[in-house]
Amino acid sequence: MSNSLETQLQELQQEAGNAIAATNTLEELEQLRINYLGKKGKLSQILRGMGKLSPEERPRVGSLANEVKEELQSNLEDRKQALQAAAIEAQLKAETLDVTMPGVSRPLGHVHPLNGTIDRILEVFVGLGYTVATGPHMETDYYNFEALNTPPDHPARDMQDTFYLPGGNLLRTHTSSVQIRHMENREPPVRIVAPGRCYRRDTVDATHSATFHQIEILAVDKGLKFTDLKGTIKEFLRRIFGEDITVQFRASYFPFTEPSAEVDVQWKGKWLEVMGCGMVDPNVLKAVGYDPEVYTGFAAGLGVERFAMVLHQIDDIRRLYNSDLRFLRQF
Ligand code: DAH
Repeated sequence: MSNSLETQLQELQQEAGNAIAATNTLEELEQLRINYLGKKGKLSQILRGMGKLSPEERPRVGSLANEVKEELQSNLEDRKQALQAAAIEAQLKAETLDVTMPGVSRPLGHVHPLNGTIDRILEVFVGLGYTVATGPHMETDYYNFEALNTPPDHPARDMQDTFYLPGGNLLRTHTSSVQIRHMENREPPVRIVAPGRCYRRDTVDATHSATFHQIEILAVDKGLKFTDLKGTIKEFLRRIFGEDITVQFRASYFPFTEPSAEVDVQWKGKWLEVMGCGMVDPNVLKAVGYDPEVYTGFAAGLGVERFAMVLHQIDDIRRLYNSDLRFLRQF
């Protein structure tokens, strides 16, 4: 009987030892511990036979049982450490960083060339002390024309084919309307730069679009003269096109300025018209309640698309509007 118990213990030791050595995971190992050493495990089952042993045999078998138990516990512990170490090793291997692998590029969005051009121009004027102002795209006749010294029968209205809206409002044909909205609520001195979208009933082609962008410049103060206008415009154009740019002012006509001029720059061997400007007409100052005997001002307006096309060598205005990513990704 005792032989048989001792044999069983030895066989158990052998069997469990082999099983532990063959485990591959911590879960398997824990399962083995429960099977062999747990309360209802194989060792406990064998020890249940101890009661039938003679008093002389009992201590011998008992100490063998303890030996087996301790050895298996130590086998389990060794195996556990080996498996944990292997798991860490495997994880490190899997997470090895190969710095020679190509990176994953995450595509960035692009600033639209029109917005980029607007930003560039505003930056120059903000640097000269101007404040950015905006106004509504839907305007009344008063702000778009009348207050800008352009009464209903004025021939200059034909220069701008206007989109009229039901109810008598219109889509602004220029950002000059922002001049009036800004001045009517404030006292001089005024120095603003007003970017925004404008609308005209133009037939679309390579250089015309029914919607386009302008930037309006306005300064009103005591003692402003045409030389201040020229100096400001020249400085602006130098900062955009480079120090060496050649600028010329050509006499012109706008209802809201007197005298008026158009500004050309010499670009790639040709004169290129880039903006209109002039001294604010006294009637415009009167319309917003400024005394033209006390204050003078100068104003200018430019087309953003023209600047963007020149600066980025874009040949067709429609490219700025048809959202072709092959085009837009270049900026
Ligand atoms: N509003 C004019 C246009 O759309 C541009 C312009 C010309 C604005 C002269 C001005 C200016 O402020 O002084 O063609």
